[in-house]
Amino acid sequence: MFSVERGQFGPNFVFGTATAAYQIEGGQIDGRGTCIWDTFAATPGNVKNADDGHEADDHYHRWPEDLDLIRDGGFDGYRFSLAWPRIIPEGTGAINQAGLDFYDRLIDGMLERGLKPFATLYHWDLPSPLQDRGGWMNRDIAGWFADYAAVVARNFGDRLHATATINEPWCVAFLSHFLGIHAPGYRDIRAASRAMHHVLFAHGTAIAALRAEGAKNLGIVTNLQKCEPASDSPADLEASTLMDGTFNRWYLDGLYKGKYPADIVARLEPYLPAGFEADMPVVSTPLDWAGINYYSRSLLAYDAATPVFPLKQVAGPLDKNDLGWEIYPKGLTDLLVRVSREYTKLPLYVTENGMSETNDEKRVAYYDMHLKAVLEARAQGADVRGYFAWSLLDNYEWAEGYSSRFGIVHVDYETQKRTPKGSYRAFQGMLHNTK
Ligand code: FCB
Repeated sequence: MFSVERGQFGPNFVFGTATAAYQIEGGQIDGRGTCIWDTFAATPGNVKNADDGHEADDHYHRWPEDLDLIRDGGFDGYRFSLAWPRIIPEGTGAINQAGLDFYDRLIDGMLERGLKPFATLYHWDLPSPLQDRGGWMNRDIAGWFADYAAVVARNFGDRLHATATINEPWCVAFLSHFLGIHAPGYRDIRAASRAMHHVLFAHGTAIAALRAEGAKNLGIVTNLQKCEPASDSPADLEASTLMDGTFNRWYLDGLYKGKYPADIVARLEPYLPAGFEADMPVVSTPLDWAGINYYSRSLLAYDAATPVFPLKQVAGPLDKNDLGWEIYPKGLTDLLVRVSREYTKLPLYVTENGMSETNDEKRVAYYDMHLKAVLEARAQGADVRGYFAWSLLDNYEWAEGYSSRFGIVHVDYETQKRTPKGSYRAFQGMLHNTK
């Protein structure tokens, strides 16, 4: 049971659950092309237990049952992503009708159940042929992505409640091209710098393409991390400011102020694409809403031995999820308030929040604390209009494979049986009480 009540969020607040195509769909059939996660997972050492998304939660076949679960939980919305390689297997060019048919059924299935579809166009499954051409390192990706966005808008735009271009540009760029932890697994500062700009340039280009096709209610989902210094020494404070710069300010300043932060530009200048400044009006194209994913905070210490960004993340003292991420609900309040005060008056949605954990009672407590944090942000003036629990189902947690379980519904990967957890029941109790 949660201590918060639905009524506290106001009558139009949207409660939903979130998933992503590669993490749940499986169904690598009917013309779906390969993506960078297929080959990243097939490369030894990248993913725990060498798990891959070939079967995942078999949502490709079991989607009616999954949508029933969302409806029966009392949720209003469902945040899902479309797989680019299912719709355009080569990334550009020929369209796979069977892929369109799948999303046609899925979106109609949401509407039949009274669920608002919140679509994400890119949740990390880049078609492999585009990676062969440089992927996010290649400026041409803006055109490739805009063409794909237009196909989605043409086919589904009138049925989508909201559309986000990119999920978590920091992960697309930095985690995947600098830290090498996600596909395509680069560890290269020039690759990362290019991806950091192109991902936002492609976002803006896609927004224009979506609007040209008549799509409405458009946004982007940024993941934000509360960055705090490990001590009150000026050096640690500088480390925390730098981390905030690469993680949060690069994306927020770019999107909502049309200018990248000077301290980060100064460090990346030699590697950024020439003339990036001219693209900033596209990067900062006006949007209709802003999505924020939040999980944890980072505690930073100065580390002179690390070039470019002389910092290291240190373990904090707070309770943690089973991936070691500190539980820090105040960070969610602070970030929502910061975005609304310093960046944008757009409606805000918490598009992901949740906990990797096998002990579901801890997950119930996590959700309760973070829902309270949302209420606190609203009390401080942040215009938060919705909250999506990550995730509906246990699923393929990227480099952690299937070992990490974020679901409010348990999935038995042998049988694909779904079993609602106490956290699902907690949402159901809260949402049904006042509906
Ligand atoms: C976010 C991702 C999502 C999931 C959660 C735990 O960064 O958007 O796909 O992996 O973390």
